[in-house]
Amino acid sequence: MVEFPKRLNLARLPTPITKLDRFPLHQSDAQIWVKRDELTGTEVSGNKIRKLEFSLAEALEQACDTVITCGGIQSNHCRSTAILCTRLGLKVHLVLRGEKPDQPEGNLLLGYLSGAEISYISERDWRGHAEYVRHLQQDYAKAGGKAFYIPIGASDEIGIWGYIAACRELKKDFQQLGMTPDYIVTATGSGGTQAGLLVGSALFDLPGKVVAFNVCDDAAYFDQKIRQDVTLWKQRYSVDFEVEGLQISTVEGYMGPGYGIASPEVFDCIAQLARTTGLFLDPVYTGKAFHGMVNEIQKGAEGSMPDARNVLFIHTGGLFGVFPQQQNFTLE
Ligand SMILES: Cc1ncc(COP(=O)(O)O)c(C=O)c1O
Repeated sequence: MVEFPKRLNLARLPTPITKLDRFPLHQSDAQIWVKRDELTGTEVSGNKIRKLEFSLAEALEQACDTVITCGGIQSNHCRSTAILCTRLGLKVHLVLRGEKPDQPEGNLLLGYLSGAEISYISERDWRGHAEYVRHLQQDYAKAGGKAFYIPIGASDEIGIWGYIAACRELKKDFQQLGMTPDYIVTATGSGGTQAGLLVGSALFDLPGKVVAFNVCDDAAYFDQKIRQDVTLWKQRYSVDFEVEGLQISTVEGYMGPGYGIASPEVFDCIAQLARTTGLFLDPVYTGKAFHGMVNEIQKGAEGSMPDARNVLFIHTGGLFGVFPQQQNFTLE
């Protein structure tokens, strides 16, 4: 059995699973279930906290007093990191992609309120963000500190433990519910949730195929990124695992106009889910993935999820991303 590394107990676990009885599916009698990872906390909610339990344990283990991480202006990961670091008494420095807005809102507002130091790198110069972080780390070292770097989304060989551990939880969930999913569905952005689910499914012998809907990049990118992270994980923790055997399934076609920009169908789908079930998704990640999943299920044998009878959707959080885009909802 696999041996887990040091982990902080930060998330509210286990999260429940809700059966969606009232969300209408057309031409399909599939049953959707939702793993409620948006309930891993309140201010710190969603998938990132599962990864950060491992990443921040490592930062403390290495006796760091500061954490640096990167992401978009509305990054859920940066918000979660900022708040958790403050709770743990660590300084936090966020390096965000884009221009500083006049009025911070959503995730960014919470980042500021939690006391994070925030730097901005323009879209044009973003390619150099890793170099910028290296300089920052040197600056902290010169000042007598030690800064730990968590890459975008905490998607690396440490962070992927979060969803490997979540698979152990899912195993128990399925036993308790007497449910066997045909598919386990997630949004994928930096690849760590997808990677953890794939590895954890194999390690804990979970039923169901892991299917991810990309909200940026493409299937080839996630294939390469996941194999790279899992290879590093395997080396770092000396795990016997066959990376070549990973069946990475990333369904393209639902990103819409671009990362962070959703089509009207996604906003309608979010509103319909809220109206019929009282569950809330966001337009950057979960809304796109849920919309894609529903479409693929309804395509039946022609879609990428044929024979879907029981489908588990991992609700990875992101609610604060709704508010900066509130003008895109059509309210009747
Ligand atoms: C709400 C939400 N869902 C899904 C994802 C995707 O997870 P990952 O970055 O592990 O691919 C993210 C972050 O990128 C997120 O913030």
